[in-house]
Amino acid sequence: METNIKIRLMRAEDFDAIVRIDHKVLGQRRPEYYKLKFERFVQSKDYVPTSLVAETDDGTVVGFVMGELYIGEFGISQEKATLDTIGVDPDYQRKGIGELLINEYMAHLKKLGVEKVNTLVDWDDAKLIHFFSANKFSPSKLINLERVL
Ligand SMILES: CC(C)(COP(=O)(O)OP(=O)(O)OC[C@H]1O[C@@H](n2cnc3c(N)ncnc32)[C@H](O)[C@@H]1OP(=O)(O)O)[C@@H](O)C(=O)NCCC(=O)NCCS
Repeated sequence: METNIKIRLMRAEDFDAIVRIDHKVLGQRRPEYYKLKFERFVQSKDYVPTSLVAETDDGTVVGFVMGELYIGEFGISQEKATLDTIGVDPDYQRKGIGELLINEYMAHLKKLGVEKVNTLVDWDDAKLIHFFSANKFSPSKLINLERVL
């Protein structure tokens, strides 16, 4: 990789960078959506901080992974260890940053005693499914059912 990338825990000040990257990836700005996520995953006392960012030498945030690990009154809940969103700035994609983020995220959760992490991916998003498959994720035996109203 030509740029040195550092992975660190996400902080409240990373909000603008996350909204900017998500905008570049998806083509739409979703500040309200990320405001809710930040309140839960970054600032809430009920969740162990697990979300991470990837930053360059000059401190520019170029990627992130967000997920939740619920702690509550009964301690760490395995069922609630999720990888919720991952995004890498398109200018920095295909350099291994996504893989780095996933590996650090898994190592961090493992240290906290988590044995399994779940994520939901759109069946039609072949690129993302390929990415997760390449990063050792496989289909769960639990399937998500839905009924249209
Ligand atoms: C999925 C995503 C996170 C991957 O990030 P990334 O930093 O590009 O990931 P990596 O570089 O680790 O790997 C991506 C691919 O690039 C390849 N790659 C890595 N370094 C490379 C290099 N130097 N040259 C060519 N290819 C390379 C990897 O092998 C991988 O290829 P594969 O898909 O064929 O397996 C990124 O594409 C993204 O943000 N996509 C949109 C995410 C999204 O939709 N999120 C919504 C909810 S989860």
